[in-house]
Amino acid sequence: MTAREFYGPAFDQLRLAEKQVLGEVRQGQKTWRDQGRSSPVLYTSSRIKSPDSMRRKLLLRGCPPTRQAALTQVRDAVGVRVICAFQNDVYLVAQWLEERPAFVVLETKDYISYPKENGYRSYHLILGIREGPGKGTTVEVQLRTIATDFWASLEHQLKYKREVPHEGLIREELRRCADEIASVDLSMETIRELLAGSF
Ligand code: GTP
Ligand code: MG
Repeated sequence: MTAREFYGPAFDQLRLAEKQVLGEVRQGQKTWRDQGRSSPVLYTSSRIKSPDSMRRKLLLRGCPPTRQAALTQVRDAVGVRVICAFQNDVYLVAQWLEERPAFVVLETKDYISYPKENGYRSYHLILGIREGPGKGTTVEVQLRTIATDFWASLEHQLKYKREVPHEGLIREELRRCADEIASVDLSMETIRELLAGSF
C-alpha cells in the first residue's frame, strides 16, 4: 500500500506541512546569508512516515493501525531532519523554527545537552502548524550535527537486527564513539570561533 492510499485525503496536507517546514528552514538560510553569515544548515531531508512503519508504531502503542489513529495519535507522520556542521548552528536553527509565528512548539527534547543512555545526541522539536498551507498538522524536526548524524545512522541499524552477535560490545563501542564525536564537535566549534576571532 502506498502512503497516499494509507493516509487518503490527508496525504496532500502532510506533504504541504513538510514543504512548509522545509520552506521556513530555507527562509532562515536566506536571512543568514543576507547577514553575511556562513550557512548553518548543511542539508535537510524529510519524509512522510511509511504505512508499514506507521502501523508498527501504532500497534506498539496499543492503537489500531488505521489512518484515523495515524493522524491523531502520532505526531511524526511528517518528519524533517536538519543537518548542521556545528553544534551551535543546531541551536540557531532550532531557535529560528521555534520563533516562526506559523508554528507552535508542542515539545522539545534536547538530547544534545542531555544525551540518551546509548549516546544519542540530537535536538528534537514537535511543531504544530497553526497557519499556512500545512495548518493543523504536526511535524517532528530532528536537528543534529553531521558527525552525530553519521553515528545515528549506524546505531539505527541495531534496532532492526534481531540477533546481533557481540551486541554488548557493539553498544559499548557505539557509546564510546558517541562521546568521542561529541568531544570532536566541541573542539571543531572552538576552532571555528578562534578562526573567526571571536575570543
Ligand atoms: P517515538 O520514538 O517517535 O515513538 O517517540 P519518542 O517520544 O520516543 O520520541 P524521541 O524524540 O525520543 O524519538 C523520536 C525519533 O528520534 C525516533 O523515531 C528516531 O527517529 C530518533 N531517535 C530517538 N532516539 C534515537 C536513538 O537512540 N538512536 C537513533 N538512531 N535515533 C533515535
Ligand atoms: Mg523514541
